[in-house]
Amino acid sequence: MGLNLEYINGQTPIDEEEKEELKIKTISSRRELDEFEQKNIEEAIEWTLRTNFSLEEILSEAFILKVHLKMFNHIWKWSGQIRKSNKNIGVDKYLIPVELRKVIDDCKYWIANDSFPPDEIAVRFKHRLVKTHIFPNGNGRHSRLCADILISHGFNRSVFSWGSYDLSIKGGVRTRYLEAIYKADAGNYEQLVLFARS
Ligand SMILES: Nc1ncnc2c1ncn2[C@@H]1O[C@H](COP(=O)(O)OP(=O)(O)O)[C@@H](O)[C@H]1O
Ligand SMILES: [Mg+2]
Repeated sequence: MGLNLEYINGQTPIDEEEKEELKIKTISSRRELDEFEQKNIEEAIEWTLRTNFSLEEILSEAFILKVHLKMFNHIWKWSGQIRKSNKNIGVDKYLIPVELRKVIDDCKYWIANDSFPPDEIAVRFKHRLVKTHIFPNGNGRHSRLCADILISHGFNRSVFSWGSYDLSIKGGVRTRYLEAIYKADAGNYEQLVLFARS
């Protein structure tokens, strides 16, 4: 019994210990989990739409953790908490606080110096967050919502469309998304910026 999950390419597996921290014990499949998480995330998005956030607030550790908490608080006890296990992606668990600080400071620097156009700053911020992999799971969705918050509240521009598709579903759009991510891993952000607006 318990939660039996299937994974698709580029998804981070959830440890057995992390699975035990599921708040809704009746969830037993990937489909059910996806649905419950999606409901929770929609609540978080509503929160971001009805609240004003300053750039200073957005670019803080506390806020970045809070976004994850708001996205998954009904589902996972570890929502909003830095991961305590290592994953096949992301920095070592002990280095997360230091890396998160660096991501924030770099993003502040890009903004202060107009290093890149606003869309690219938000997409670079997203990519650095997901590379750090702060949480046991939900890092992809969290990083995209953080980029949406930064571009809308910080730069007064519309949120991204991220391929206009549910990226948790296997298929052509997710493949294009992952290809763009791998280019960004190599330092080329152009494709990921284009994808974010497609
Ligand atoms: N090589 C990579 N570089 C950067 N990000 C990656 C890479 N591989 C996967 N990702 C990101 O990590 C996400 C998977 O992490 P996960 O915590 O499971 O997030 P979610 O549960 O929201 O999908 C992918 O959706 C993708 O955004
Ligand atoms: Mg996942």
